[in-house]
Amino acid sequence: MSSAWPESWRVLDHGIRSGRYTDPAFARLEYDKLWSTVWQAAARLDEIPEVGDYATYDIGDQSVIVVRAEDGSVKTYHNVCPHRGTALSGGGNGHFPHCKIICPFHGWRWNLQGQNEYVLERGEFRGGQLQDSDVALRAVHHVVFAGFVFINFDRNPQPFDDFIAPVRELIEGLAIGQMHHYWWKALPVAANWKVAQEAFFEGYHVPATHPQLEPDSADIVMNGTPSAEAEAHFAHRNVHTEKYPHGHGRFFAGKKTPMQGHVRQAGDPIEMMAARLNLLVEGMDAMVLKEDVEIVRSLKDKPIPEGSSLGAEYVKALYTTAAQQQRPMPRPVPEILGMWGGEIFVFPNLLILPQAGNAMIYRIRPDGNDPDRCIFEIFSTRTYPAAVKPPRAEVRKITDIMDPEQVLLIPRQDFHNIPRMQKGLHSRGCKQIWLAVEHEKMILNMHQELDRYLKGTAVDTPVAGVSVA
Ligand code: FES
Ligand SMILES: [Fe+2]
Repeated sequence: MSSAWPESWRVLDHGIRSGRYTDPAFARLEYDKLWSTVWQAAARLDEIPEVGDYATYDIGDQSVIVVRAEDGSVKTYHNVCPHRGTALSGGGNGHFPHCKIICPFHGWRWNLQGQNEYVLERGEFRGGQLQDSDVALRAVHHVVFAGFVFINFDRNPQPFDDFIAPVRELIEGLAIGQMHHYWWKALPVAANWKVAQEAFFEGYHVPATHPQLEPDSADIVMNGTPSAEAEAHFAHRNVHTEKYPHGHGRFFAGKKTPMQGHVRQAGDPIEMMAARLNLLVEGMDAMVLKEDVEIVRSLKDKPIPEGSSLGAEYVKALYTTAAQQQRPMPRPVPEILGMWGGEIFVFPNLLILPQAGNAMIYRIRPDGNDPDRCIFEIFSTRTYPAAVKPPRAEVRKITDIMDPEQVLLIPRQDFHNIPRMQKGLHSRGCKQIWLAVEHEKMILNMHQELDRYLKGTAVDTPVAGVSVA
């Protein structure tokens, strides 16, 4: 395969050839070699809280139903009737009444364990010798991890534990498994799925794309004369990016973030921090929620103890409030607190952006055979107080990604660029894109792993993960 590898599909040391984003043949190869063998998040458990609930996951021409069985376990089946192939779920999420899966065409019936319970005129099939195994629903490999149902179509998949090892402790430490539905949107985006997700792989785009988040830096980038002194304050300079085996990665802001109490001194630090967090509440309604800002404001008039900081006091107040509400929180250790405002990328298409007991999750997949289209989903999740039953996850299908009624400011700013990137990648003037060696290293790592799938050389040897002390 590699000898016939087209030049326009190559991953270079410092960039990516544009055909990887635009060529229908490359998209087909991804279906054949990546999506057919990789672990992928098919559902959140919140989609199927009650026995008999189901979720439908479609990827390319494949469809899977994810079911909550009587014993509380999760089952995953190919979405197909063994009789004549009717899809058992017509799409979307729903509930199987009386815990029976019934094919709409001729009424064959299964229990939630996938065992057939009824075939009309059974004696007519296979000379009257129809076996239960002939007509059982076909299971798909799955693993429940961190509130996700991961599936894998491969008959003999890489062990999930090996696959997730590099990021397991981070995700567990961040309590992603205890996060529940707050809102969930699905956006149709006119771009390749990789173009769309890579717009969220770095903080390098923030000054130009989200000027309100870094007004000083935006001024320098968009209007001003660059000066080394002013540029030293660029927030992305404080962001560390790491790449891991199996294509995963993360970035995190380290110490110099507002969450850690780092605010440039100009005015009341509490108001500055609250205003900064409010940009996320109003611009995303995710990661930081209204009540978190109120907690910052509650620190007014409380002296900061010697040796502490506003950021440290804020974190303490968040944890005290959560403890009173018996609300699960991320582990309060530096490795985990340092991830707030950062991102974990789970290859091939899952991004987790954690914050204080909230997290935003992105899942991006191709949409049919068109390399210029994808479905971009945003899950805003949070932990809930013990007294509150989390709601069942329901998707809101967005019809216009530029409509302020449907998409808030910050993602809208990102989606403003994404179709333009796709358009540009088709240009005869664009043979390749360039990648920053540090800030954009997760992109390169992702493509290198993608090639290992496409060329059939992905390795599944166990690797050590990031350890969270
Ligand atoms: S196709 Fe499903 S029962 Fe006939
Ligand atoms: Fe962005």
